[in-house]
Amino acid sequence: MSFDINYFNKLDKTERYKEILEWTKEFYEKEEDKLASIMNSLALFFTVFKEINWCGFYYIKGKELVLGHFQGAPACTRIEIGKGVCGTAAKQKEIIVVDDVHKFPGHIACDARSQSEIVLPVIKNGELKGVFDIDSPIKSRFKEEEVECIKKFLEIIVNNMEF
Ligand code: SME
Repeated sequence: MSFDINYFNKLDKTERYKEILEWTKEFYEKEEDKLASIMNSLALFFTVFKEINWCGFYYIKGKELVLGHFQGAPACTRIEIGKGVCGTAAKQKEIIVVDDVHKFPGHIACDARSQSEIVLPVIKNGELKGVFDIDSPIKSRFKEEEVECIKKFLEIIVNNMEF
């Protein structure tokens, strides 16, 4: 595999998002080691999606969410269910898009640069396993096209996750 960021930089947003999904599928098709594939998928997403400063998983462990696979700066390791954007998405089992994190009551600021955020619940076989969280240094980063791409990206990963 050869990764050339210049190739992705020349694409428009729609094409870039499509490429992220195709590459992610290929990571899983070409490599049987799931850890290798999830890490490559997150590294690709973090590098290619643009204008994000963190992306990764928190997994349910007991009554808390605990930091899992991610890309970006070191982050809070434990989040109570019901607390912050992550804990709220886990409690409600719903996608939460926050255009301005400073206006979300109880937002947990792991990285001071974060301005907007999206958190999706990770559900497998009907059971909540954790959340997938993405932070952006610009406000209102996650619009309809972004949400659609992120949902599909997460679906590929979750289908391949072994809990
Ligand atoms: N902002 C999140 C905490 C996790 S970090 O963004 C990586 C929250 O409010 O739950």
